[in-house]
Amino acid sequence: MPSVIAELNQVLASLKDAVRTEDVFGIPAAGTSSDELRATIKKTFLRLSQLTDPDLYPGDADAKELATEAHALLQAFYEQALSKVQSGEYGRAPQRGAEANSAASIATTRRHYRIEKALAQGDLATVFEGVCEEGEGEAAKIVIKLVEDPADNDLMQNEARIIKLLHAGEGVQTKHLPVLMDDFRTDDGRIGLVMRRIDGYDLHSVREKYVKGIPPRHIIWLFRRLLSVLGYAHSQGILHGNVDPAHIMIRPSDHNVWLIDWTCSIYKPASTGQGFRILNEKYSAPEVAEKKPPLPSSDLFSAARCMVYALGGNPETAEMPAEVDERIQRFIRFFLKESPMQRAQDAWEMYGMLDDLRAEVYGPHEFIPFEM
Ligand SMILES: Nc1ncnc2c1ncn2[C@@H]1O[C@H](COP(=O)(O)OP(=O)(O)O)[C@@H](O)[C@H]1O
Ligand SMILES: [Mg+2]
Repeated sequence: MPSVIAELNQVLASLKDAVRTEDVFGIPAAGTSSDELRATIKKTFLRLSQLTDPDLYPGDADAKELATEAHALLQAFYEQALSKVQSGEYGRAPQRGAEANSAASIATTRRHYRIEKALAQGDLATVFEGVCEEGEGEAAKIVIKLVEDPADNDLMQNEARIIKLLHAGEGVQTKHLPVLMDDFRTDDGRIGLVMRRIDGYDLHSVREKYVKGIPPRHIIWLFRRLLSVLGYAHSQGILHGNVDPAHIMIRPSDHNVWLIDWTCSIYKPASTGQGFRILNEKYSAPEVAEKKPPLPSSDLFSAARCMVYALGGNPETAEMPAEVDERIQRFIRFFLKESPMQRAQDAWEMYGMLDDLRAEVYGPHEFIPFEM
């Protein structure tokens, strides 16, 4: 029997895959009256509502957050469904935009997407902002990650496989992971991944705003959530392999954190023999250049360098601004020991230690808004 969290994750995954309300509540048979339709929709809503009730998880803050997110999505789809039933639009075939057949449109066996503009340039791919033609409002917002050189297709496939594996596991940490919606291959043989658009900023954009570094207090939630998602990935035998400021995204409104770009991730290195796939000059641990076997602590090293960067310090020397509490500096430096055996090894253990440190330095938990 699936656990409650697995069930919750399943509901959330289907809500995140949905681009319009009919994806959640289904298409009615021809001739269904609006009363019948309302009743069917309500039944589904109540069933999903029970599964995503945040009150089911009183003692588990992370699970509660996950449920709250699922609940909010469900509620929004429900309201949209009712208003579409009211106006008679529910179940009608989606209208595709006039530019649907332009060069910027992509059709897969599942859906149609339209590229709107380039959003960012990654190491392998261009990331475009776009919409799903069948979608509505917020739910239609996507990004398309299109690899530049087909020689890197295998890394894109690696990312797709690992993201699926991570979402299939039983962890509340799925809220910190990118959501893969679709994939395709262009005529010239390049792989594209369609992902839900993350409503947030990567750490480089954060530093453009906070030129001297973020206020030190905010490092707590940032590092805490990063450790949480790393702990989860590591528990599944997955190493990220390229933790870098461009791959950490935050949403200021609720302090959610995402760890993205799993192209260079490594699966169960001890049994598969997979090695590091990339040397990140500024953020990789020393063992990467030495081509040693990948370890969870290699990710922790890179994560800590990113925290030094976020704080406005020098990632390569671990120097941090003087206003960063010495106890926090010491904690971060424990991740940055040259020898993997001497540094922090276990993300979840460090997550617990960071909680204690937060209490010691800042007292009881308090939500301080982060402005962008
Ligand atoms: N799902 C997403 N939502 C919003 N922005 C994204 C998303 N995925 C990637 N980005 C942006 O695109 C940049 C490059 O993405 P990344 O996955 O690192 O590509 P690459 O594999 O080519 O390095 C990221 O640093 C981030 O700013
Ligand atoms: Mg990248």
